[in-house]
Amino acid sequence: MSSDLSIGLHDLSAATTEYVLTHETLAGRTGADVAKYHRGLGQLAMSVPAADEDVVTMAATAARPVLARHGTDRIRTIVLATETGIDQAKAAGIYVHSLLGMPSATRVVELKQACYAGTAALQFAVGLVHRDPERQVLVIATDTSKYDLGSPGESTQGAAAVAMLVGADPALLRVESPSGLFTADVMDFWRPNYRATALVDGQESISAYLQAVEGAWKDYTEQGGRPLDDFHAFCYHQPFTRMAHKAHRHLVQYCGQDADDDGILRAIGRTTSYNAVIGNSYTASMYLGLAALLDSAGDLTGRTIGFLSYGSGSVAEFFGGQVVPGYRSHLRTDLHRAAIRRRQEIDYARYEELHRRSFPVDGSDLAVPRETTGPYRLAGISGHKRLYEPR
Ligand code: COA
Repeated sequence: MSSDLSIGLHDLSAATTEYVLTHETLAGRTGADVAKYHRGLGQLAMSVPAADEDVVTMAATAARPVLARHGTDRIRTIVLATETGIDQAKAAGIYVHSLLGMPSATRVVELKQACYAGTAALQFAVGLVHRDPERQVLVIATDTSKYDLGSPGESTQGAAAVAMLVGADPALLRVESPSGLFTADVMDFWRPNYRATALVDGQESISAYLQAVEGAWKDYTEQGGRPLDDFHAFCYHQPFTRMAHKAHRHLVQYCGQDADDDGILRAIGRTTSYNAVIGNSYTASMYLGLAALLDSAGDLTGRTIGFLSYGSGSVAEFFGGQVVPGYRSHLRTDLHRAAIRRRQEIDYARYEELHRRSFPVDGSDLAVPRETTGPYRLAGISGHKRLYEPR
């Protein structure tokens, strides 16, 4: 379906955590050659949430500047995508709505399908704006990726949130139709309700991802999508940034073209700088890739960007987006760079302590230590309820 109505990203704002652990520090502990992390995975550091940070505080921190700039008058829906759910029933977005003081005449819902759900949220938002172009939808992708200590996944942890305002006549990026879709029932990565850390079959997840790239692209072309050469750059889901290289190489070869290193780097190189120092932020990862691309030097006006969103389990979607004239005056480059720079580096012992933290499950009270210097914090747990406050 194509439409003359231009709908897409009107604003985009990212936030991450208080702390950072470098892969040099991690290698000092695991005994791995740090080049495996730096070159093999393309990861330099990972964001680590403070004791009083979680997906809600990151989401509110990311969304706050969006509301400060655009107000709340036109927003009637918040769709929050996460696979770091804090409650089986209540949507995390309701806490965010409350922290941000948004009007009661809002619908708030949470979406889940591993790292893909941010894209589902974006596409549902586009549909809602189509129905009423006067309205805007606040989409928030927010996640903390957590694997067992000492497991292969540990080096690909991270945390971040990206808030996106979706509306008509967008200031940043027009989201195009069609989309290419792909679903396959695979067990490459999952997290049963009773676990705080994810289970993953690493090599299976890489091959499932590559199969999904193929499947989503095939459907995209069958739906009448653009040819590969139309795209100036590609934003991939980045569980680790080398995965974007692998995925793009696979796509280019699938399309029968030569996949030389320079060409791959040109297509994806500017999308990896934030993820390389933040780590895997699951639903937010591909949109951090977009933020890095838009924030990097160079005028992308009128350029078409390809997006490949993958969520283990698995669902993938390929779609295009066109960068809108004037986009550069709406970017939040300084905010994003400051969010990365301001993180406090921690040692392995501190990281391990934070990793091992858990909350009471018997209804007892817990006051969470004051650590974050961000605008919102998790103050405590009482009677099985999470208590949030502005800092
Ligand atoms: N110098 C440079 N590169 C090195 C190296 C060194 N000293 N040692 C290893 N490497 C490279 C390997 O060749 C490999 O690259 P390649 O895949 O291009 O061949 C890369 O570093 C990773 O090494 P590997 O032995 O495969 O690492 P691992 O067993 O620790 O597993 C993951 C890597 C990604 C599978 C693991 O971190 C994981 O399970 N992550 C979570 C799930 C995930 O991110 N899935 C992705 C799809 S959603």
